[in-house]
Amino acid sequence: LAGSVPVLTVDGPTASGKGTLASELAAKLGYHLLDSGALYRATALAAQDAGISLEDEASLAMMAAQLDLRFDGHRVLLGGRDITDPLRLESTGGMASRVSVHPAVRQALFQLQLSFRRLPGLVADGRDMGTVVFPSAELKVFLTASVEQRASRRLKQLLGKGVAATLDGLLADLRARDERDMLRSVAPCKPAEDAVLLDNSALSIDASVEQVLGWWQARRPF
Ligand code: DC
Repeated sequence: LAGSVPVLTVDGPTASGKGTLASELAAKLGYHLLDSGALYRATALAAQDAGISLEDEASLAMMAAQLDLRFDGHRVLLGGRDITDPLRLESTGGMASRVSVHPAVRQALFQLQLSFRRLPGLVADGRDMGTVVFPSAELKVFLTASVEQRASRRLKQLLGKGVAATLDGLLADLRARDERDMLRSVAPCKPAEDAVLLDNSALSIDASVEQVLGWWQARRPF
């Protein structure tokens, strides 16, 4: 039955704008949204709270399998605690990247991700949405933007929020995460064979949304 629920996947590297694009698409289409990175981030925060090492695959997987995570509008609750702000920290993204290399952790989060596929449809963003989790998705978008463009975009975002950051620091962090996320042996970040590539470096958010909606309308058998 889940197979008849339409899915649109948005994958791409860190700070490529997938989160914003996916949430705008979900809002426009009236679909559910899966921010799969949030699951890895929440696992990392839960591990940190419990004093579990980011190398301890078995304990991390157990933690991931028992995540008590709730999405309440834009807020995210972990075991009832509001983790919306810590979830989005750069340092949490870095920890999530380290947690996500473990195959047992990915396995533990697999069913949870599938459960987001509900009518009327799903927009899912991450690294392996089109390749591993939803290989039957009707449309798979893969965002490509250079590391320099992503770093300068993220710098603006952080400075706008009053968070101290430097371009060099961000470039180094993004390169480290790209390398870990793209070179890992299980579910590396790469375009599915049938993915459509979208370079959004020079596109506004609205223009990216319109582009993808155009592809979606052309593909969906309405
Ligand atoms: O998209 P994000 O920045 O919230 O993701 C944080 C980390 O989680 C990312 O560096 C790698 C991991 N991740 C993953 O391995 N697979 C996904 N589908 C989503 C995120």
